[in-house]
Amino acid sequence: MNSAKKRMLSGMQPTGMPHLGNLEGAIANWVRYQNEYESFLFIADWHSLTTLYGDTGQIKQNIREVALDVLAAGLDPGKCAFFVQSDVKEHAELHLLLSMITPISWLERVPTFKEKQENVLGGEQASYGLMGYPVLMSADILIYKADVVPVGRDQLPHLELCREIGRRFNNHYGGVFPECEGLMTSIPAMPGLDGRKLSKSYGNAIYIADDEDTTWQKVRSMFTDPVKMRKDDPGHPEGCAVCAMLGIYQPDSDEELQRECRAGHMGCMQCKKKLAELLNERLKPIREKRAELLDNMDYVSGVLAEGAEKAGAAAEETMKEVRSAMNMKKRTVR
Ligand code: TRP
Repeated sequence: MNSAKKRMLSGMQPTGMPHLGNLEGAIANWVRYQNEYESFLFIADWHSLTTLYGDTGQIKQNIREVALDVLAAGLDPGKCAFFVQSDVKEHAELHLLLSMITPISWLERVPTFKEKQENVLGGEQASYGLMGYPVLMSADILIYKADVVPVGRDQLPHLELCREIGRRFNNHYGGVFPECEGLMTSIPAMPGLDGRKLSKSYGNAIYIADDEDTTWQKVRSMFTDPVKMRKDDPGHPEGCAVCAMLGIYQPDSDEELQRECRAGHMGCMQCKKKLAELLNERLKPIREKRAELLDNMDYVSGVLAEGAEKAGAAAEETMKEVRSAMNMKKRTVR
């Protein structure tokens, strides 16, 4: 790989089928930037255990779905390292070492910790692993000395913590780690079909793997302005999930569309037809590539194995420096 390039790293949890939010918010950026940076992109299966520890049976299948969608969306495994986190054990080693220097108070104030404790675990006790989620994420980033990390806005507190942990390490043991920067998408957040936040657990998503008809059925059932009953009733595009998605897929005609909706010249059914058309256009090549890959799962497994090989070599380089800086002994066995 070309070492003159800056490094990009990002991960995605295998918590279910990837949806449109994952595609436009994350995967599209991985694909867009894969040429610009030396890229490490991975499926964060250990992270998914923080919430799926009671239901681990689905993780293997979820990993396959993420791998298929990411490759179908255009990630080129020849240009980057695409791998599964648990195939590169060095992430776990660095996580452990970083956990020794991370104050508990830093982790308690991370907003996603409180949010998951309340919303995802439904009152169940949060685990040591959930609290350490951002420490593992810091290890993922620091082990490749990543310069840029494409993430959603919700992950910014984790990046801040990563920089703090890296700095603390450097202060104790000498400068090993650079500071990473977040790389934000410019597109607005994808809404859920029901107008709520898009979430796998709400079942309000269009999946990348959905076929044309399923996509249309889902769009048809989408939440729109409840006071616009007929086409010529004046509409309120704000708060309408169909309008929000049209704004993402057709940003240039967004203003005109909103005007037509308000004026009662455009009905919700017309908007939905347009949206389904745009989505199917966007997803068609991805679905075709996905079907090809599905017939060739050996190739997909090979890609992930090769990716783990490449990533493992880079991770081991950093770990040599880390062990030496911390006065730990050299690695003597595999
Ligand atoms: N926490 C990220 C998410 O849920 C996934 C992730 C794990 C990640 N490790 C990472 C993202 C390292 C960027 C860098 O979206």
